[in-house]
Amino acid sequence: MDLAIGPLDLPTHVDEALAVQAEAFGLGADEVAVRRQIVLRHMTYPGARALGATVRGTLVGFVYGMPNDRTHWWSTVVEPYLRARGNDAWLDDSFVITELHVHPAHQNRGIGRSLITTITDGATEPRSILSAIDTESPARALYRSLGYEDLARQVLFPSAPKPYAVMGAPLPLRRR
Ligand SMILES: CC(C)(COP(=O)(O)OP(=O)(O)OC[C@H]1O[C@@H](n2cnc3c(N)ncnc32)[C@H](O)[C@@H]1OP(=O)(O)O)[C@@H](O)C(=O)NCCC(=O)NCCS
Repeated sequence: MDLAIGPLDLPTHVDEALAVQAEAFGLGADEVAVRRQIVLRHMTYPGARALGATVRGTLVGFVYGMPNDRTHWWSTVVEPYLRARGNDAWLDDSFVITELHVHPAHQNRGIGRSLITTITDGATEPRSILSAIDTESPARALYRSLGYEDLARQVLFPSAPKPYAVMGAPLPLRRR
């Protein structure tokens, strides 16, 4: 199907990426505008990297992440939940998966798995952490199959209506 996975210049392609995320995750125009500023800021952080999946030149999926920094907003929100379960050491020397999305028309063909394993294979950290909506979902099933385990549940981010689970896995991620 002419699929290519490789480095993505996310600041240049932020609108295409957010169009994919809007379809995959169900974002409205207002949320896209907010996310756009957040993504552009994230990509200035040290070690931030993105990969894209394209089919005949059209972006159909992307992933991005960065080495965790305890001063970053995401880390400050999840820290007390991890500390309560004795898991806060996961915030050190960890590569955070910030976003992973595949357009619905291209899901369930191995693209998401390939994006997350490829980006984490390029990390120098010994582990990876992420957050996902705390419900049974394709994302949660994918993460578990890669070795991610729950580090905290029912984590509330300000302004997010649903609680999240924080998950962590040793790197490299488990292969099938
Ligand atoms: C999560 C997501 C990125 C996975 O991308 P994908 O390309 O469809 O995933 P893959 O084809 O690589 O599937 C890998 C695994 O995901 C799980 N999965 C995928 N689709 C699934 C479905 N419909 N039901 C249950 N599990 C599913 C399976 O564990 C699958 O493993 P398998 O191939 O052994 O069956 C994609 O479903 C998506 O964009 N979802 C909406 C946005 C989202 O939730 N992003 C994550 C935010 S934390």
